[in-house]
Amino acid sequence: MTKKKIALVAGAAGFIGTHLTERLITKENYQVIGVDNFVTGSRDNIKHLSVYPEFTFLEHDIKDPMDIKEKVDVIFDMACPASPTDFIPLKIEIIESTLGIYHLLQLAREKQAKFVFSSSSEVYGDALVNPQPEDYTGNVNTTGIRSAYDEGKRFGEAMVMAFHRKYKMDTRIVRIFNTYGERMRANDGRAIPTFINQALKNEDVTVFGDGTQTRSPQYISDLVSGIIKLTNSDITTPTNIGNPDEMTINKLAEKIVNLTNSTSKLTHVPLPQIHDPKVRKPDISKAKSELDWEPKVTFNEGMKKTIEWFKINTKRGDIF
Ligand SMILES: NC(=O)c1ccc[n+]([C@@H]2O[C@H](COP(=O)([O-])OP(=O)(O)OC[C@H]3O[C@@H](n4cnc5c(N)ncnc54)[C@H](O)[C@@H]3O)[C@@H](O)[C@H]2O)c1
Repeated sequence: MTKKKIALVAGAAGFIGTHLTERLITKENYQVIGVDNFVTGSRDNIKHLSVYPEFTFLEHDIKDPMDIKEKVDVIFDMACPASPTDFIPLKIEIIESTLGIYHLLQLAREKQAKFVFSSSSEVYGDALVNPQPEDYTGNVNTTGIRSAYDEGKRFGEAMVMAFHRKYKMDTRIVRIFNTYGERMRANDGRAIPTFINQALKNEDVTVFGDGTQTRSPQYISDLVSGIIKLTNSDITTPTNIGNPDEMTINKLAEKIVNLTNSTSKLTHVPLPQIHDPKVRKPDISKAKSELDWEPKVTFNEGMKKTIEWFKINTKRGDIF
């Protein structure tokens, strides 16, 4: 048995952090120090991890520097509120998590650790090209209602590249596209958990606007595989990880209604004033050719697992 590497996962109690941590411990031979302040994460998301001796947890806000005694081989920064409904009430918390990127980079420098940053397709803003390749520099409103998030991700990437260039640090930037799966917050305002919960209750499924805006949902296990492959590669420039299976929000809602065997009808409600992008589809040529990665889980497979999870987890207060 080879010696275990040590990873620090900031945001371990969040949707992506909990899945990444589980994969690192159970399949990738890591010990993990999970870090979270629970601003959007939940203790339920780390309960199942506490059975592993390889998992330790530190409640901490990354806006403050962290004193870690252990050696650390890799820092994964997955700590930032990520749902569009968080963009308005949690704008300061989003800025604070952006300040945290600096502290985590300093920690990675001190520990001579690799640094993996969870950036977002939101760096492309209201994209004027579709699909979005990594060299598209985006269309972001610097003072718009969602700018703390979009510009925070762009500044995060700038910080990572500055540390990489000046200190020759080993860094990765993963541009994550819309991801779904088990352990998402049911009430976080994203379309998929909202539609699933409405459909399971046979309530109207509320589509924002005319529903012709598009998204390309990827299942969580595909994202985690992409993050691991990118971490193990030597690619230091931003890399899109997403599923190019683009669909309108109307189609997404119809598919969820069908998969839940629901009697729900689609109803259209006014678009919220958060400047949602009209189209979103990753160009994944780079991940395919340089990482030999592409999504493996079909929409129906991933969505069935997600729906089952939502059905079973009725006890969590935020679900029904
Ligand atoms: N889920 C997606 O579709 C998606 C898409 C693009 C990018 N991302 C990025 O991936 C990362 C994880 O997203 P997610 O969907 O798991 O979101 P999430 O809200 O479920 O998880 C974020 C976690 O980080 C924690 N956190 C936030 N600020 C913190 C701070 N200052 N200190 C310590 N912990 C803090 C939260 O409590 C939560 O547990 C984020 O950086 C997000 O921007 C996610």
